[in-house]
Amino acid sequence: TEMRRPLIAGNWKMHLTLAESAALARTVRTDLKETAVAEVVLAPPFTALSVVAQELAGSPVQLAAQDVFWELQGAYTGAISPRMLQDVGCRYVIIGHSERRQYFGETDATVNRKIKAVLTVGLQPMMCIGETLAQREAEETLAVITSQLTGGLADLLPEEINRLVIAYEPVWAIGTGRTATPEQAQEVHSFIRQLLAKQVRPDIAYGLRLLYGGSVTPDNIKVLAQAPDIDGALVGGASLKADSFLKIAALG
Ligand code: G3P
Repeated sequence: TEMRRPLIAGNWKMHLTLAESAALARTVRTDLKETAVAEVVLAPPFTALSVVAQELAGSPVQLAAQDVFWELQGAYTGAISPRMLQDVGCRYVIIGHSERRQYFGETDATVNRKIKAVLTVGLQPMMCIGETLAQREAEETLAVITSQLTGGLADLLPEEINRLVIAYEPVWAIGTGRTATPEQAQEVHSFIRQLLAKQVRPDIAYGLRLLYGGSVTPDNIKVLAQAPDIDGALVGGASLKADSFLKIAALG
């Protein structure tokens, strides 16, 4: 993992007021050790992107959005475009989170469109994939991962895939307190990397950062991050408190 800088991203989901968002971003920025090994990213709700961008200006902490639409502008009431996210100061965009797939009809095809749109404005997609509990119990995990990867990355050039971060978030581990064991996560991460090596290009597969997501805490980040193919985490609940998020950002 030496060549891959770890990345710790906080996905705030549908939480926090503007004042709370600004305060949390400020504390993360101020208290993050200058020697921090990991790249740190915050993903506030759309309404708070602007205030968080102001708090993070000039700091190494990067900004991400939680979703995006695939058109750059137009009559799409309620939607937010890649260009708007670039304008507000994002570097990353989370795409295809399981909650988007579950509640908002996101599919591998929409994930693919969004990834392409985001790349056209120079932002970096953080593509989320992961199996449900039923799929794991039916031993379909690797098949599900394969089809989500293949569908989500369809028609992308290797150089475009090189701009991505991929997050493996087993749905049964999200917000449940039931973290995947390092062995379970490593198995899937290694599978993803091998698949990309075969289907895209080995050098790109070995350079891509693969994050784990699902009930990451200050207590389990260390062993997870030690797994050879786990390059950081996408953190939900534990990212809403500065002290727990900063411990995770320090990789335990
Ligand atoms: O995107 C992060 C996420 O889905 C994990 O959430 O609350 O289990 O850390 P949580």
